[in-house]
Amino acid sequence: MQKIAVVGSINIDYFVEADRLPKLGETLLGNSFFLSLGGKGANQAVAASRLGGSVALFGSVGDDENSKIILENMKKEKVTVNNLNVAEGTTTGAAFIELCNSENRILVVPGANNLTDVSYIKTVSEELLNYDVVLFQMETPLEMMEYIVPVLYDRQKTIIVNPAPAHKIRQDILDKITYITPNEYEYQMVLDSEDSMEALLEKYPNKLIITRGTDGVSYFDGQALINVPVIKVEAVDTTGAGDTFSGAFAVGIAEGKKLRESIRFANVAAGLSVMKKGAQTGMPYRHEVELLLKEEEEHENKGHVI
Ligand code: RIB
Repeated sequence: MQKIAVVGSINIDYFVEADRLPKLGETLLGNSFFLSLGGKGANQAVAASRLGGSVALFGSVGDDENSKIILENMKKEKVTVNNLNVAEGTTTGAAFIELCNSENRILVVPGANNLTDVSYIKTVSEELLNYDVVLFQMETPLEMMEYIVPVLYDRQKTIIVNPAPAHKIRQDILDKITYITPNEYEYQMVLDSEDSMEALLEKYPNKLIITRGTDGVSYFDGQALINVPVIKVEAVDTTGAGDTFSGAFAVGIAEGKKLRESIRFANVAAGLSVMKKGAQTGMPYRHEVELLLKEEEEHENKGHVI
């Protein structure tokens, strides 16, 4: 099993739940309020660890009460945080999430996440090179990724980028990424192209993986377009589903699973994650994903299509 490093954002999520979202200028009474642990980087690290990955998180938190809660949680989740930057006089990142009928709207105040920059990554780059699979998202400064991706590429690391929130990625950086996993709304912006989904998948075989919500996950295997279906579940909260997909996908790749198998594993994990409220709360453990995969396999062997 290869070792996984996640480089990315760490937040406390402040959720408010309501029957509908307020209009601009409107005051609306919500139903409940809760705090949860989040940040795309932290979420992906937790997802990967729960699924059996050997995981370290690289990123920044402030020197406030929230960072203590986060560090405690990472210990519980068996995620290595030795290289985390605890920045003095800074606040930990915070996300304000409005939840309504399982869908969400998120506003992020990056705080310490802005310090996961080029100078930080230079101080931990030797340590980062001890990992085989490195997973990024884009809630931390883009220049940091542009600096470190070529270094990792030269050392033949597997580089996975979940380009959320979406930004254009420079072609020379894109060329060095092993797998990139935008969703159906992000891929054109990330790849800076108006070409169709099919054309872009063919342009980046076995590399561009587009997550399409309930329509499954698509990639081009060099011969044909492949669509890997998702599982059908009653969603309670989709926050963090994409992060669960990314963390689980990294575990599949780190274990040497084939691309299709890694995506299937990630789809099942992401499906299970939306059944509880909060980004990390519903993230499944390894045995839960395996049980569902086994049940589906048995179902398919009996001739049913899931
Ligand atoms: O992807 C979900 C995450 O996005 C939340 O946990 C929130 O912190 C934001 O970073």
